[in-house]
Amino acid sequence: MFVSRRHFVSALGLGGAGLLAPPFIGGRGREAHFAEWLTAPATPAGLIRLDSNENPNGPGAKAFEAIRAMFGEANRYPDAPEDALVAAIARANGVSEENVVLGCGSSETLRMCVEAFVNTAQHLVTAAPTFELPQNFARTMGRPVVSVPVDDTLRLDLGQMVAKAGGAGLVFFCNPNNPTATVHGDAAVREFVARVRRDSPATYILIDEAYHEYVDDPSYKTAIPLALADPNVIVTRTFSKVFGMAGLRAGYAIVHRDTARRLQGWRLGSGVNVLALAAAAVMVNDKEHIALEQRRNREAKAFTRAFFEKAGYAVGASEANFLMIDLRRDLRPVREACRREGIAVGRPFPPLTTHLRISIGTMEEMRQATEVLRRVLA
Ligand SMILES: Cc1ncc(COP(=O)(O)O)c(C=O)c1O
Repeated sequence: MFVSRRHFVSALGLGGAGLLAPPFIGGRGREAHFAEWLTAPATPAGLIRLDSNENPNGPGAKAFEAIRAMFGEANRYPDAPEDALVAAIARANGVSEENVVLGCGSSETLRMCVEAFVNTAQHLVTAAPTFELPQNFARTMGRPVVSVPVDDTLRLDLGQMVAKAGGAGLVFFCNPNNPTATVHGDAAVREFVARVRRDSPATYILIDEAYHEYVDDPSYKTAIPLALADPNVIVTRTFSKVFGMAGLRAGYAIVHRDTARRLQGWRLGSGVNVLALAAAAVMVNDKEHIALEQRRNREAKAFTRAFFEKAGYAVGASEANFLMIDLRRDLRPVREACRREGIAVGRPFPPLTTHLRISIGTMEEMRQATEVLRRVLA
């Protein structure tokens, strides 16, 4: 069962209490551009948020029951709930508990990897565009970054990434890739890992599977088996997408036990709060919720794709909960016009400054968004 944001409040029984008042619910997304934080007005009421690849429906009802049941543990450090979530994640992924490293969102696990494996002598290899957090961390830490442009089909250029991986500390491989929504199949991932491992044995490969549950391409498989077999391969996952818990903050890495020991040293102790732990522990094995969310995303995505294609725009292949569309014009004025009309869409992702990344909301949200876009693009 899905729960809307409004129902999120009432489900917690906090409706009038103001604990989850608009500043919390309407706060800007994780991915919103930092510079804009400094200048943008507060989020207008009723803004439809299609800018941060969030799940518009939130987590399932079971998550709220688990959160309520955990209120009484708010005064305790989260040791037992952490153990319970690690066990649930291990069960859901067919791995052992020693292979699981928790993070405050998968963002924390990405930071741990940069801290552990990238240094002044061993660079980070990433893509342009891809999810920017690892390179932002590396740059903040004063560590070298080599960025490889995506190819003409907006796919990660794996050949060039291998070529740049010699002597690297870490290669960031986002699969599916945010913001381009493209995916690489199991054979391509295995070949990539084998080539990097052969050419640069000390390099770690971080495969970010934040959008794993949304992939329909039958050639795709999780890289978890590679991570279990090889200490230099790391897979990260999040509760922020299909599980609808972006505001709760929980994610994890699946790694070989030797790598788990190394990464644990970079964890913020008790970085995931008891409420997020409780919700994540029930959501991770909720197959019904995942299937419902996949179906909802597929339908609203097909509707949105058809709108853009009918309007004459090329829409990239998408294996995630967002689409990338070449509008063949500077994205910025389009984005500003959409925002004035109550629709927040993704920012430009250089070098793709004419592409729009639009997250898939509810069908009703996509109807409203496409009506606005029809006017804005006319
Ligand atoms: C590819 C990718 N990885 C990681 C994250 C961060 O997710 P979390 O909310 O788990 O920190 C995002 C968020 O949008 C993402 O797109």
